[in-house]
Amino acid sequence: MTLVAERRNLSPAPAEPGPSRSEAGVPQASLPPPLLRVSNLTLEYRTPERVVRATHRVGFDVYEADRFILLGPSGCGKSTLLKAIAGFIPPVEGTITLGGEVVRGPGPDRIVVFQEFDQLPPWKTVAQNVAFPLRAAGLVSRREAEARARHYIDKVGLTPFADSYPHQLSGGMKQRVAIARALATQPKVLLMDEPFAALDALTRRKMQEELLILWEEVRFTLLFVTHSIEEALVVGNRVALLSPHPGRVRGEYNGHDFDLASVGGDAFQAAVQRLHDRLFETDPETSVPPAPAR
Ligand SMILES: Nc1ncnc2c1ncn2[C@@H]1O[C@H](COP(=O)(O)OP(=O)(O)OP(=O)(O)O)[C@@H](O)[C@H]1O
Ligand SMILES: [Mg+2]
Repeated sequence: MTLVAERRNLSPAPAEPGPSRSEAGVPQASLPPPLLRVSNLTLEYRTPERVVRATHRVGFDVYEADRFILLGPSGCGKSTLLKAIAGFIPPVEGTITLGGEVVRGPGPDRIVVFQEFDQLPPWKTVAQNVAFPLRAAGLVSRREAEARARHYIDKVGLTPFADSYPHQLSGGMKQRVAIARALATQPKVLLMDEPFAALDALTRRKMQEELLILWEEVRFTLLFVTHSIEEALVVGNRVALLSPHPGRVRGEYNGHDFDLASVGGDAFQAAVQRLHDRLFETDPETSVPPAPAR
């Protein structure tokens, strides 16, 4: 099946700044435990000259089948957070747990789709690219890997290109291969770092739509980074807003179910405006006071 069907079952609702699930008045006992818990996470880069604090005590919970968005300005630590969750950067303080286990390094239960089009080895065909991580991680037999690769290539509508090489594909098609490759490993959480940012506007919209259709079919758990407010509202069911460098969680917005058909509508524009205002307001905790007048 390809990804050209209409999105279903998603009714628009205004994006309101909402309490997190744990505060939403639902008895705690009825909540499932979060799949991914990021708590009090401080991440730093240490160079011989200096220490750069990328995030400061960031915390959020991602539940199974969430489409959780990290939205924030450039340099606020979104990619760093994703890399830490993928297991490539150890925390300075705080913890990351996935399925109740502390994340201590990379693993096949987390996989990242990046923005760059060159994330596919060019000497492998589409089918080989998608099957490769399954074989490399020793997850399944060769036959099973090939069957699973075919299944996910079909899901992203690329069956006619299964034997093509990356250089024969458009940017959008390469990103579809990267998504198929990620989903084929059936990760506990799919991590996406601005996967559509390098695409033209029309292709970007189409990819957002396809991702949502795919999510409806597969119901994977998604952690998606963007600095586009519109993209956050279209793709996500929950949005964590990060402050400028170093990133902290400014607020969480949930309960909205906009889709591409909502774009341009009054409710959508109002939600964009609210998030925009919140994103650019000065944070009294971190703002620098104005210099005294001379
Ligand atoms: N390898 C590195 N060494 C030192 N500092 C780094 C390194 N990578 C990132 N940083 C710094 O960490 C901070 C967070 O960077 P990060 O790439 O996570 O931001 P981002 O939110 O993903 O930004 P963008 O939206 O531009 O991709 C920035 O101040 C950046 O300069
Ligand atoms: Mg980034």
